Amino acid sequence: MGRLDGKVALVTGGAQGIGRAVAVLFAQEGAIVYAGDVKAGAAAKGIENVTLDVSQQADWTRVVDAIVKTHGRIDILVNNAGIVKCYGPVHETDAESWNRVLAVNLTGSFIGMQSVLPAMRKAGKGSIINFSSIWGNVGVPGAAAYNAAKGGVRNMTKNAAVTYAKENIRVNSVHPGLIRTPLVEAQPDEMNAGIIAQTPMGRMGTPQEVARGCLFLASDESSFMTGSELVIDGGYLAQ
Ligand SMILES: NC(=O)c1ccc[n+]([C@@H]2O[C@H](COP(=O)([O-])OP(=O)(O)OC[C@H]3O[C@@H](n4cnc5c(N)ncnc54)[C@H](O)[C@@H]3O)[C@@H](O)[C@H]2O)c1
Repeated sequence: MGRLDGKVALVTGGAQGIGRAVAVLFAQEGAIVYAGDVKAGAAAKGIENVTLDVSQQADWTRVVDAIVKTHGRIDILVNNAGIVKCYGPVHETDAESWNRVLAVNLTGSFIGMQSVLPAMRKAGKGSIINFSSIWGNVGVPGAAAYNAAKGGVRNMTKNAAVTYAKENIRVNSVHPGLIRTPLVEAQPDEMNAGIIAQTPMGRMGTPQEVARGCLFLASDESSFMTGSELVIDGGYLAQ
């Protein structure tokens, strides 16, 4: 028996990194998985790759309509797609970068919830997992737009959690610390070393360690959890 047997899941940013690990684990646990991304994902058993730019309403409509038409429902949405793009502080963040970072990380998750909620409300159940970050909880020097977007995701999640709790739709946020993915591998070594030095466990996490937390939130095992923050950060925020 898989922990997600028969459930229909959409994972955004599912071509690489954490989103890919989530899609793979969900498929292993019996879910029917759609991995939405602007990039082409590799073929994998139990995963259907779909083109989805989370900042585009028309993309969401196309993808969610197709899933609901095929399966009659959508049980799980993982709003994982995210970008950092701009590492500058407030006085060095241009409007274009600010708008794009907010559009993908925050508005993308908002439109995602809006797109799946009609089907979830009709079914009377659902689990939505929104990707925040440790930078959704505390400030980091630089990355002003990312810090703002992830803080927005954190509280938007609580808003949706309390709004839809009586309809059996659970909405939780995930807050990873530094995780070894293509995003992080593209960052300067000194930057990553600085975060590791401030992480009590003294290492990066793996995408699989984050995926296991998402599995719990997606499954019925977390049936009394909504509006919670699942922190997976090697102890960073405990300090
Ligand atoms: N890696 C970390 O250390 C870390 C820490 C905290 C939070 N996060 C968050 O976890 C999530 C995944 O991060 P990652 O490290 O796996 O990143 P990544 O860059 O390795 O992968 C992100 C995926 O999202 C896709 N994507 C980007 N823009 C998109 C869009 N507009 N529409 C659809 N897909 C899009 C990319 O093509 C890519 O496949 C992000 O929300 C990120 O902010 C990551």
